[in-house]
Amino acid sequence: MARITASVYTSHVPAIGAALDLGKSNEPYWQPVFKGYEYSKRWLLDNPPDVIFLVYNDHATAFSLEMIPTFAIGTAASYQPADEGWGPRPVPTVIGQPELAAHIAQSVIQQDFDLTIVNKMDVDHGLTVPLSLMCGQPTVDNPAWPCPVIPFAVNVVQYPVPSGQRCFRLGQAIRRAVESFDQDLKVQIWGTGGMSHQLQGQRAGLINREFDNAFLDRLIADPAGLAELPHIDYVREAGSEGIELVMWLIARGAMADVAGGPAPAVKHRFYHVPASNTAVGHLILENN
Ligand code: DHB
Ligand code: FE
Repeated sequence: MARITASVYTSHVPAIGAALDLGKSNEPYWQPVFKGYEYSKRWLLDNPPDVIFLVYNDHATAFSLEMIPTFAIGTAASYQPADEGWGPRPVPTVIGQPELAAHIAQSVIQQDFDLTIVNKMDVDHGLTVPLSLMCGQPTVDNPAWPCPVIPFAVNVVQYPVPSGQRCFRLGQAIRRAVESFDQDLKVQIWGTGGMSHQLQGQRAGLINREFDNAFLDRLIADPAGLAELPHIDYVREAGSEGIELVMWLIARGAMADVAGGPAPAVKHRFYHVPASNTAVGHLILENN
């Protein structure tokens, strides 16, 4: 059977992708950001998944105000990096896992979550920057991402957005779906976006270190309690774009302890301000 081996949490920022693609990662501004992912890249090489289930948000790239799915699962064979205005990032095509994605769609919809099935879409920095941070830049010897990816897009851009509670329960349903797939696959689930940031309005530039670190503490030790945080508290405390953090609860809900298993091992924790307009947070939790 397939199983969830670990969850990874990381912020995304388009400027991180640009810093990598333009060879700026050793500049003093960026060095401390990328240093926080050195352990993570080694960890991923030592713990290779067969599939990454990547929870992220699209930024009006694949979807627009014309169509706004709350939860969308990618069932395609491949996904192209999107052109977000400066041309597509020079990173590999994302290879999908249609068989497992279709199984998860079937199982999760039967568990009463409404998913939109997406057979064709481009993927923006919300998906490619976490991959870059964890896998490093592609090289001539290593031109591809390390494994297939199932993109899972969550609407945190246009109100109304899903609650943390719903995201946490969805993660539990995804876990059950993965565990009922009849192939021996190691699946990692990644929750991305956040941490505190606001890109617009009077409070543009808002960062809240205290909130972010309490969020990391509770995500590790009290995810069910954290899931009760109402969405207005994210916006008030973590800024209008801080609401991206609800996506971390999907990944956390899929971990074994939430279903009565042992607590996960905290393999890595990192926090840094600033990266562009965002606080960067990162966690790796392994199922024991
Ligand atoms: C920034 C952060 C984001 O999450 C995003 O989607 C776009 C920009 C930023 O910090 O600049
Ligand atoms: Fe974003």
